Amino acid sequence: MRNVTDSGVKTLSAHDLRESTGSSTGADEPEAILRLDGVWAAYGQGPAVLEDANLAIGGRQFVALIGPSGCGKTTLLNMVAGFVAPTRGTLLLDGEPITGPGADRSMIFQDDAVFPWYTVKKNVEYGLRFTVDKAERDRRVAELIELVGLAGRENAYPHELSGGMRKRVDVARGMAPRPRILLMDEPFAALDVMTKTRLQEEFLRLWDGSEMTVLLVTHDIEEALFMSDFVVPMGTHPGRLREAVRVPFERPRDPLLRTSSEFQELRQRLIQLLHESHGGSGGAR
Ligand SMILES: Nc1ncnc2c1ncn2[C@@H]1O[C@H](COP(=O)(O)OP(=O)(O)O)[C@@H](O)[C@H]1O
Ligand SMILES: [Mg+2]
Repeated sequence: MRNVTDSGVKTLSAHDLRESTGSSTGADEPEAILRLDGVWAAYGQGPAVLEDANLAIGGRQFVALIGPSGCGKTTLLNMVAGFVAPTRGTLLLDGEPITGPGADRSMIFQDDAVFPWYTVKKNVEYGLRFTVDKAERDRRVAELIELVGLAGRENAYPHELSGGMRKRVDVARGMAPRPRILLMDEPFAALDVMTKTRLQEEFLRLWDGSEMTVLLVTHDIEEALFMSDFVVPMGTHPGRLREAVRVPFERPRDPLLRTSSEFQELRQRLIQLLHESHGGSGGAR
């Protein structure tokens, strides 16, 4: 299923995302953490909004789905989160069907999900309040607050924080339960460009020290390229996953990577792929 596109960019079938990590050599039972097989989605009696989605994501991979508004990105994340059931196909997490939400998955949304009536500390520990004892909770929460750069603001309320700081609270809260998979739905889209780039870099540093697999949804090509190991472009009407594009840049990612010619070439290539995915006739190839 491997092929090499004309620009020399290696693309893989969405099914084969795990191959390049070397985490699995056995062909039969791949060690995908998350696996989507022939997944379709529709709302009520309406038409399919997502068609035959196939994807296998290995441990500690960072995968970005990218596509225009309405192509089914949020629907796909909601299915992985267990909020929405597929109309056809299966979603497996560690080999088990996803039947509802669970502590093994956290979601970070575009809009702040922080509770305005809770302090920073209370917000971060929210997902741990029944599952982790107080001493461990305090330790973990303090560590995360430090890591996201909010030490000293533990007792602040969200309205006392900037948009970027509230997003850091969101990130800390999403990571606190130590999910297997962190789902991010356009998490930085509402931030100004400077704050956004800074948070992307900060997030990668956090992620580098963790075991989490990340599935990021974005319509920002630069964000997808800067952050992820694979970018999966999506087409619309109905939503569809295209061939995954491997992002070859070494980690840790250098902030200046964004200005390199390799980065810009890959960006150009993705723009083309996205254009083909929802442009004119015979776009698929
Ligand atoms: N709750 C819903 N009820 C009916 N249609 C919905 C609902 N949520 C999303 N849709 C439709 O499903 C399609 C995909 O939406 P969505 O997954 O939100 O796309 P994206 O996140 O890529 O913008 C859109 O056409 C949208 O209008
Ligand atoms: Mg969306």
